[in-house]
Amino acid sequence: MNQGPSLWGWIFMATAWGVILVLTIYCFSRVLLAKKKKTESGGRAQWASRIGLILAMAGNAIGLGNFLRFPVKAAANGGGAFMIPYFCALLFLGVPLMWVEWTMGRHGGVHGHGTTPGMFALMWKHPAAKYLGALGIALPFTIVIYYNFIESWTLGFAWFSGTGKYFGLTTRDAMGQFLRGFQGVEHNQFFASWLPIIFFFALTLSINYYFLRKGISKGIEVLAKIGMPVLFIFGIILAVRVLTLGTPPTGISSVSSGLAYMWNPDFSQLSKATVWLVAAGQIFFTLSLGQGIINTYASYLREKDDVTLNGLSTSMTNEFAEVILGGTIAIPVAVAFFGVVETKLIAQEGAFNLGFQSLPVIFQKIPLGQIFGAMWFFLLFIAGITSSVAMTSPAVAFLEDEFKWKRNRAVNTAFAVLAACAVLVVAFFKFGFLDELDFWAGTFGLVVFATIEIVIFSWIFGVKKGWEEMHIGADLKVPKIFKFILKFVTPVYMLVVLGAWTYQEAIAKFLMKGEEKSRHPYLWGARAMFVSLILITVFMVWLAWRKRKNRAQS
Ligand code: ALA
Repeated sequence: MNQGPSLWGWIFMATAWGVILVLTIYCFSRVLLAKKKKTESGGRAQWASRIGLILAMAGNAIGLGNFLRFPVKAAANGGGAFMIPYFCALLFLGVPLMWVEWTMGRHGGVHGHGTTPGMFALMWKHPAAKYLGALGIALPFTIVIYYNFIESWTLGFAWFSGTGKYFGLTTRDAMGQFLRGFQGVEHNQFFASWLPIIFFFALTLSINYYFLRKGISKGIEVLAKIGMPVLFIFGIILAVRVLTLGTPPTGISSVSSGLAYMWNPDFSQLSKATVWLVAAGQIFFTLSLGQGIINTYASYLREKDDVTLNGLSTSMTNEFAEVILGGTIAIPVAVAFFGVVETKLIAQEGAFNLGFQSLPVIFQKIPLGQIFGAMWFFLLFIAGITSSVAMTSPAVAFLEDEFKWKRNRAVNTAFAVLAACAVLVVAFFKFGFLDELDFWAGTFGLVVFATIEIVIFSWIFGVKKGWEEMHIGADLKVPKIFKFILKFVTPVYMLVVLGAWTYQEAIAKFLMKGEEKSRHPYLWGARAMFVSLILITVFMVWLAWRKRKNRAQS
């Protein structure tokens, strides 16, 4: 098959691109035209500039999810038609929750709390609130343990691409062996020991550590100011390269049939509940919602800093990277070289096989492939690291704010625990340890936490107060209809997603349906680790509040 997108395919693609482009340009022109405000600075660390803040937040959101997860999910769940549930989730869940998390974060920060235990306690005067907030530290911390591991693969592969180490392995099977050897799943002719993966993992952790130690404006903001432009430049170069490939002589199809695969709508998919769930899950994951990490970044705002325009700008920058760049690179190029049938199989095998096994085969077939390969994996690395520093931030902020620890001590402690847990993820990776954590913390956990957040914001704190809080210093007046959306649509949507997810996936997953018996102990191990991290956080919250009470009494 060598056909380009159908009329519907073009319509979906043009509409999605158009809406995102127009909104992105609108947001940034308003940001540029907005008057500089003179606001008081509180006692906590702060972002140095507005553009630095937006880039850091965009870096927080733009991650591996944009370039690997999105194209695979879209292609496997209806192509262009996937954009319908996807945009519904963006409009009714993503953007409203983004505003909620920015608002909660700024409110908490102004009162000295950079994490959700303190933020929830401010909005809900109930002893349970702070313990529910513990999830906003434990979830991102659990996710970052394995996210850093995947990030280290991207760094390793950037190096292997640049040096041409895997060049000569021209089949996906051979690349699969190479990948497994590197990951430590098996020792083979490519990698005889754990040393390479340990080296790249340690390097990844060290770079994360460096930027976190440097703090908000001198570390995270600087990383975003350098990393984000590089990411966009690399992303645009790669997207243009893919779009101009035409019908490559060494391929079996064309890029336009790749675009057709990505965008031709399969409307029959829309009647499937799972497609709507996958779209909602993708929106949470890609916008970094339901993890407490947007909240923590927003806690470093000043009292009257805007949250509405900044929140929308962050969302749109993420969507640009996801739909326009992420949707144009991996899948279309895979179709051009492997054809639709094989790409479908690759997509079913998951995002990582596409990124790490299939694309390296393609880099070997195009001129300057070493350079494009290094660019692709380095782009993934930047996308990854700007998200992983965000995911580690709540744990650090919690120790700083609630225990009054110095930043260095907080970062050192967080990394000591992180490294200890990471050893288990690396050692037991081949038994499904990482996937188990990814489901409970990175998929199910986000939905649970986001549901708690929206209920606290809209129903307990109250949408009226929340709306006023959101509009303090606002550069963008949010249309009134969002008051209704925040109060009814988002919570109901969330509860339906949560209910459906629990029914369709979580129960089967909990019972380990279809899992080999020999893996069960490792999967229980992963769960035990996750639950332990939650319990430890809950205990620390209890400790912090007891200390505060004692301080107040003395
Ligand atoms: N939002 C981050 C991503 O998309 C976590 O990877």
